[in-house]
Amino acid sequence: EMDPQERSFQERIDQGQKIEPKEWMPEGYRKTLIRQISQHAHSEIVGQLPEGNWITRAPTLERKAILLAKVQDEAGHGLYLYCAAETLGISRDEMYEQLHSGKAKYSSIFNYPTLTWADIGAIGWLVDGAAIMNQVPLQRCSYGPYSRAMIRICKEESFHQRQGFDILMKMVKGTPAQKAMVQDALNRWWWPSLMMFGPSDDASVHSAQSMAWKIKQNSNDELRQKFVDQTVPQAEYLGLTIPDPKLEWNEEKGGYDFGEPDWNEFFEVLAGNGPCNAERLGARRKAWADGAWFRDGLTAYAEKQAARRAG
Ligand code: 3HC
Repeated sequence: EMDPQERSFQERIDQGQKIEPKEWMPEGYRKTLIRQISQHAHSEIVGQLPEGNWITRAPTLERKAILLAKVQDEAGHGLYLYCAAETLGISRDEMYEQLHSGKAKYSSIFNYPTLTWADIGAIGWLVDGAAIMNQVPLQRCSYGPYSRAMIRICKEESFHQRQGFDILMKMVKGTPAQKAMVQDALNRWWWPSLMMFGPSDDASVHSAQSMAWKIKQNSNDELRQKFVDQTVPQAEYLGLTIPDPKLEWNEEKGGYDFGEPDWNEFFEVLAGNGPCNAERLGARRKAWADGAWFRDGLTAYAEKQAARRAG
């Protein structure tokens, strides 16, 4: 049974009002936003690693410049989102500690390796495509700082997807070996991209409450379906085959029927047993350790400044 404060909070949510940092909110609302926003930020930062792997090996100067810009955008998205999470009372250091200790999650998709240049195209097309599908509704999130961060981030995401699709369009028009490289990338990135939307609705522990609080506007399966419906025609345009024998247009549903992701693989990756989990966390821990001298220098300088002002 809701107490009067929670009831009036829920009325504000139902009326579509934005909740701002200083306003009263149920502890559960605060907690689930810290969980989701901080993990979203971790995803952006860890997401730089698979793509960064190809910056020195991009096939042309133009592709290198585009990839550099995209990876830099992801860093910025991460910083916006860490700032949004801080408005809820968690510190930047706490969030980093949760990532480095393995306590916090980041998107499962970044635990897969980028084996060829076509993977960079597949990431832009599929991973950023799925991220856009998931982030556009988040612009209407009831929590002000997250909604505003999403509006800013979504403006940059369409470029990310378009540049990926452009890479693949170029390659499928190239040699048979290049087209085969693209099909191989689709084979490896299709199912992990569907897993980005989360477990199926009946296995989603947070969806009901997150939807009641208008943090989540659509269910995991709903967005997954929209992503498949939008992406299949694009794969056909590229002359590619989606690696799902169950994929079939369903006229009365007005959408595709498709197979089930391998949920065992999904939960294994979430448990830290994916192909690249150790490598990704290792890279983040190393970056943190390598940056200690710089953080210490900043702190020492700030203390000297404070002492001088006080003296
Ligand atoms: N990877 C890792 N963990 C996942 C996941 C995934 N793909 N999908 C779900 N989970 C986790 C959830 O975090 C939750 O675990 P937790 O309680 O420890 O946090 C558990 O699985 C159950 O899932 P639920 O569906 O109940 O959880 P949510 O209601 O939080 O829904 C979500 C999951 C749809 C990912 C939601 O958290 C969300 O929309 N997050 C913000 C957007 C986001 O993170 N998008 C993917 C990042 S990719 C990206 O943005 C980078 C791009 O620019 C390249």
